[in-house]
Amino acid sequence: MEDAAPQTIYLADYRPFGWIVEEVALTFRLSPDATRVASRIRFAPNPEAPPQEFFLQGEDLRLVSAAIDGRPVQPDVTAKGLTCAVPSGPFLWEAEVEIAPAANTALEGLYMSKGMYCTQCEAEGFRKITFYPDRPDVMAPFKVRIESDLPVLLSNGNPAGQGAGWAEWHDPWPKPAYLFALVAGDLVAHRDSFTTRSGRKVGLAVWVRPGDQDRCAYAMDSLIRSMRWDEEVYGREYDLDIFNIVAVDDFNMGAMENKGLNIFNSKLVLASPETATDDDYARIEAVIAHEYFHNWTGNRITCRDWFQLCLKEGLTVFRDQQFSGDMRSHAVKRIEDVVTLRARQFREDQGPLAHPVRPDSFVEINNFYTATVYEKGAEVIGMLKRLVGDEGYARALDLYFDRHDGDAATIEDWLKVFEDATGRDLSQFKRWYSQAGTPRLKVSDDWKDGSYTLHFRQENPPTPGQPQKDPRVIPIAVGLLNPNGDEVVPTTVLEMTEAEQSFRFEGLATRPIPSILRGFSAPVVLERQVPAQEQAFLLAHDTDPFNRWEAGRALARGEILAMVTEGAAPSPQWLEALAGLALDESLDPAFRALALRLPGEDELAQTLHDRGVTPDPDAIHTARRAAGRALATRLAPQLPGLIAALTDRGPFSPDAAAAGRRALKGAALMLLTRTDGGAAAEAAFAAATNMTDRIAALSALLDSGKGQAELAAFEAQWQDNPLVMDKWFALQIAFAAPAEAAETTERLTAHPRFDWKNPNRFRSVIGALSGNHAGFHRADGAGYRVVADWLLKLDPLNPQTAARMSTAFETWARYDATRQARAKAQLDRILAAPGLSRDLSEMASRLRGAAG
Ligand code: TRP
Ligand code: ZN
Repeated sequence: MEDAAPQTIYLADYRPFGWIVEEVALTFRLSPDATRVASRIRFAPNPEAPPQEFFLQGEDLRLVSAAIDGRPVQPDVTAKGLTCAVPSGPFLWEAEVEIAPAANTALEGLYMSKGMYCTQCEAEGFRKITFYPDRPDVMAPFKVRIESDLPVLLSNGNPAGQGAGWAEWHDPWPKPAYLFALVAGDLVAHRDSFTTRSGRKVGLAVWVRPGDQDRCAYAMDSLIRSMRWDEEVYGREYDLDIFNIVAVDDFNMGAMENKGLNIFNSKLVLASPETATDDDYARIEAVIAHEYFHNWTGNRITCRDWFQLCLKEGLTVFRDQQFSGDMRSHAVKRIEDVVTLRARQFREDQGPLAHPVRPDSFVEINNFYTATVYEKGAEVIGMLKRLVGDEGYARALDLYFDRHDGDAATIEDWLKVFEDATGRDLSQFKRWYSQAGTPRLKVSDDWKDGSYTLHFRQENPPTPGQPQKDPRVIPIAVGLLNPNGDEVVPTTVLEMTEAEQSFRFEGLATRPIPSILRGFSAPVVLERQVPAQEQAFLLAHDTDPFNRWEAGRALARGEILAMVTEGAAPSPQWLEALAGLALDESLDPAFRALALRLPGEDELAQTLHDRGVTPDPDAIHTARRAAGRALATRLAPQLPGLIAALTDRGPFSPDAAAAGRRALKGAALMLLTRTDGGAAAEAAFAAATNMTDRIAALSALLDSGKGQAELAAFEAQWQDNPLVMDKWFALQIAFAAPAEAAETTERLTAHPRFDWKNPNRFRSVIGALSGNHAGFHRADGAGYRVVADWLLKLDPLNPQTAARMSTAFETWARYDATRQARAKAQLDRILAAPGLSRDLSEMASRLRGAAG
């Protein structure tokens, strides 16, 4: 049970630890209920730290013995750690503790998953393994000895010997405790190797449970491509003799960059054409790269404290996005990234959980692994790069690696490197790190005597704890087009620094059509009254692929919102423009598939709320479906031909071109199923030879209220594959009619395979209900109640995942009074629960704090 009043931690209170850790040696004697951890740690006074009491964090540990320089000591132990009198000079700390990994359901520290031992130490899990200064600015080399009868015993660094029942590992690179990892189990390896550009051969292994080894090839291939890319693009080479990846079924997040021993959620490793979709393949490639890239941006250079989390996460997300763009298509990748940014980060930034990219206080750090820190953190780096140019960026990054290798650094260090490398003053730019909220950019234009002027006004709305804000630096990439579609002014980056600012373009023969915020050059909401013809023109002619897609998105949003608020019918011009795009064979199929995807219901609700209209989830759902049906009717004659032309007959390839064709084919099948009674999708399901096609067909059927026989067949075929069954659970809830989503969820929670203690399964069911917009926001509150029931049930076992999933409630203040009252009632019920975790209680009280 947690403290009644959990403590708030402030950035301003940072002070260095009083000792330097020169070396750590750990011995693990593994046992499910009573693992012994013996530690030998060499401490020396830190001359740069103020005098302080010797305190080591430690939670849920049974201290067996402790000694300093070989003499037994009796430290003062509390629920948070221990204090002890220590010598004034260097000393050797020795302790032995006992822990119970089999009883660890929080999946933090040392725990067990399907008979295997594994660890998760970020952010503050190492303190559940032994007493230690568990903070990222304390870095040390580690030696680890593991004793266990299990066949595979792994830790960080290089192997240093092994025998019957034991193995030793040495990690020469000083690292903070959050990067510590240990794995022990009955595992098999998929092996390969990589020779670095300086000629060192690195042994690579992906470790999985027996039976899964034939689904590791894509992860390995992604790893090798990541290693090569980081050498070529950032000049960063790998620095150990081996690199291990382990797949684990029970994992709270996606993956973890432990030095030399990355641990992954198995859904981000295991893939075969039969079991994984193209989206799974793309995610695996991106996350393998992300964790690998952390070796430099995170591990070699780490964070001084957890407020600096974006230093490693924003940069590493930015790097993995660049990598995926290079591997696939930059245009498609950018559109997908902006779709997620808006769906997750804008939603967060515009609600009660809004916080700066670098927060200045927190209660539970696990609650700050957010879309703002990760995705907006990456956008901020993209803006920096746009402002200083590609060369300036490259120089700054070289300087960053030179200057800070081995450091625990801050955002100030990061920005200073850019200032020193480029001579720019970034003091105003720094507001992107300290001010929460999404800026709104209002645009108007005028045309007089051959001169065209764009007027911008930025508004920075208040967010919790930040009523007032200062104007930010906003890079606005703009291009101008002639009415005949020619580009008269190619992409130029306007640097907005004032609250209001105008930019003039001279010497134009005719009034141009502006293409503003190309490539989504800043994470802002653009507010401009654009006539539908102008959007249609940009959809047809914009040379910037992002803005071309954006014009289509804006048109679709306008159409559906007019259907909601005015009862309008979808306009023939819109249907024509969209159909033209869908059938335009000169365009990348992946791009066409994205253009056909209508804006989601949550995005439509947010847009209405922004315009001062209270969104009605049922009306939005109905209108969006009607828009889809109108599009289906318009395209009906062409769809069978389009599907046939996109059907590949050769062997499966997960590459971007083949995936793009499957994506467009799936979108076409979804539309066709709305008009053909399901015949094509039933045939496609029966004929599918890969999971992408199978899921596309099943989705199309469920979307049209069909597919019960296919669901049963799917379950019979895949019941023993947990990752595939996660899809089976999630799809039924995602496509449930709003009136039935809560009941469908409850029915599935009674299914024998609803293993609610497994985070993937919990997310695939409870997360799917929160993602069913009209189903979750059902007027009678049933959606809110079912999600709250399960959060309360999960919280005592796994607070981190319960807290993370409570973000389902972050938009309640948008809706009508009845819905608000019902959502608040559930948050109040959560807050009143006895023994609520610090994680969920922080989240529920921040969520509850929203206006209203
Ligand atoms: N550092 C990890 C990443 O982004 C994130 C992560 C994995 C994590 N597991 C976690 C964060 C558990 C907090 C708790 O790559
Ligand atoms: Zn990361």
